[in-house]
Amino acid sequence: MKRVITYGTYDLLHYGHVNLLRRAKEYGDYLIVALSTDEFNWESKQKKCYFSYEIRKQLVESIRYVDLVIPEESWEQKINDIKEYHVDTFVMGDDWKGKFDFLKDYCDVVYLPRTPEISTTQIKKDLGK
Ligand code: CTP
Repeated sequence: MKRVITYGTYDLLHYGHVNLLRRAKEYGDYLIVALSTDEFNWESKQKKCYFSYEIRKQLVESIRYVDLVIPEESWEQKINDIKEYHVDTFVMGDDWKGKFDFLKDYCDVVYLPRTPEISTTQIKKDLGK
């Protein structure tokens, strides 16, 4: 069984997120999403989530391409996660291109093109949040 992992916040779930997860799943049979906790999101990115971790987790778990959701609590956990979950492929959107090449010592690293013209930041801006 080939295992794939991806990381993100997935706040205000939108079609760009679903597109990313669908394409990530095509790299294997089992897709793990490491979902940023509210604390990690705030401390590392100074971003306040609209939906809580528990709500975001429920939403991401309900997507058919996703097999497991685990918490993302630090930048440093990736190598551990890859080893612990026997990950074959690490996938991220290409806004992160090159940033995780150091993981190539542990698994394949793939950057997928982002879906144009949609982001959580844009939704918040448009809604005046
Ligand atoms: N993603 C994507 N296409 C988009 C938006 C996001 O492929 N239009 C991908 C990101 O590259 C990442 C994953 O979805 O791999 C989760 O992204 P996240 O940062 O949670 O979503 P964004 O909408 O980019 O949120 P923000 O605006 O807060 O950065």
